[in-house]
Amino acid sequence: MPDWLKNAVFYEIYPQSFYDSNGDGIGDINGIIEKLDYVRDLGCNAIWLNPVYDSPFMDAGYDVRDYKKVAPRYGTNEDLEKLFKKAHEMGIKILLDLVPGHTSDTHPWFLEAKKAAQSELSNRYIFTKTVWDAPPQYRMMCGICERNGNYLVNYFSSQPALNYGFYNITHPEWQLPPDHPDCLKTAEAIKDIMRFWLDKGADGFRVDMADSLVKNDDEKIATAKIWRGIREMLDSEYPEAAMVAEWCHPERAINNAGFHMDFYLDHYGNGYSRLFRYGMWGDEAVFNPNGRGNLKAFADEYLPNYEKTKENGYISFMTNNHDMPRVTAYLDKQAIKLVNAFIFTMPGVPFLYYGDELGMRYQDDLVSKEGGFSRTGSRTPMQWSSGKNLGFSTSDEPYLPVDKSPDAPTVENQRDDPDSIYRVITDLIALRHKYAELQGNGELEFVYEEGKLPFYYKRGRLAMYFNPLAEKAELDAAFDGKIIYSLGGGGISCGKVLLEPQSFLMIERN
Ligand code: NOJ
Repeated sequence: MPDWLKNAVFYEIYPQSFYDSNGDGIGDINGIIEKLDYVRDLGCNAIWLNPVYDSPFMDAGYDVRDYKKVAPRYGTNEDLEKLFKKAHEMGIKILLDLVPGHTSDTHPWFLEAKKAAQSELSNRYIFTKTVWDAPPQYRMMCGICERNGNYLVNYFSSQPALNYGFYNITHPEWQLPPDHPDCLKTAEAIKDIMRFWLDKGADGFRVDMADSLVKNDDEKIATAKIWRGIREMLDSEYPEAAMVAEWCHPERAINNAGFHMDFYLDHYGNGYSRLFRYGMWGDEAVFNPNGRGNLKAFADEYLPNYEKTKENGYISFMTNNHDMPRVTAYLDKQAIKLVNAFIFTMPGVPFLYYGDELGMRYQDDLVSKEGGFSRTGSRTPMQWSSGKNLGFSTSDEPYLPVDKSPDAPTVENQRDDPDSIYRVITDLIALRHKYAELQGNGELEFVYEEGKLPFYYKRGRLAMYFNPLAEKAELDAAFDGKIIYSLGGGGISCGKVLLEPQSFLMIERN
């Protein structure tokens, strides 16, 4: 287990929208290099970079055409190596995004596999025996290749699924077992790509749809086996490299598959949305001041996951990512501050999505860009300053339009505002670095009552008190202590913690 993860705080960068250094309207790697000091000043010491590989961008780069080449619009492989080097000089690690489940339908492997002629790549993707085989339980593209067969896709039509085999075989005439030599070769090809970038200085990978590899593998037994093999490779060849899964099932991802971290999203009903987004526009979220949220439902889902996995890896909460509406679509500013207090004081490894530190708004009126659809509104350019394109680009045609509202938050207007979300996030990250008990593997004792808010949790000699409600509240004090951080106000008196409406207190034991 890489030691650096204990105190890692990640910043997710969507490269096309971060900073355009050459005025072509699209963010680029040199732009990220220019802004590394900004990332460091936030207190983040690691970056997750969304895909930067050559791609036709039918799904914003999650449709890879060449895993070993940086997309020209972002720069060159040398630029990426320079980013690794500069980041390392500043104590910042970089995880690339690995897309192991599918490629673009323009990837040379696929162009070869879809030919009628047999080749050593014929089994790299999953083709049915003939075009007349189209069992409805599989998502497939039919009758569009020279080859007499239909092929499975993982996500959009342009993303054919790579072949890691089938755990339960329903159609033996075209489904291979996971230990078929051609399926093993697919995993070897992915390892080769990982080595390529790790040798150039990458610090690991965020793994896209990590649970998607082997098909008909409901318990993910064969999929986990592949990842364990990859973890063994990392442990022996790159012991400092880290992998975070987009699996969202910590027990499977961390304990069974050997991931160092797993994102805590709702794919398997694990309760993340209950905190910030649940119900219609968040009206049943725990942090909605209307009090309709159900903390116990969250705790009942999260705590067993945490207990089962805490010795082996980290659960990662995120402020948002490039696939979900920004939380500004759901909650008011004070609630968002409390959400951040939660994310940055819980165990595990937290992830901050670019622009969330400014309270950037979800732009719900945009035409889809590069397969974004409803996700497009969370992918708009970073807002640096006043002026053209809010400082993102000098181009007349930026990748996406910036927030047009007159009060659009920018780095320039938020950094020095004592009431900003930026201030809260940077304060909280600084506290996380200062107190070891707040870090990834510090203890957690979660204290809550059925049907009740507020709540608190202890992390060693610190206690975090939250009152998400619109009215004042009080709770028993966990211990005698002093308030070391406060949002919204409150106090300690006669063994009670008094909490103002929508408040957070961090208390240190005397
Ligand atoms: C999850 C990624 O986060 C998303 O953006 C992408 O569209 C799908 N996986 C498919 O790769």
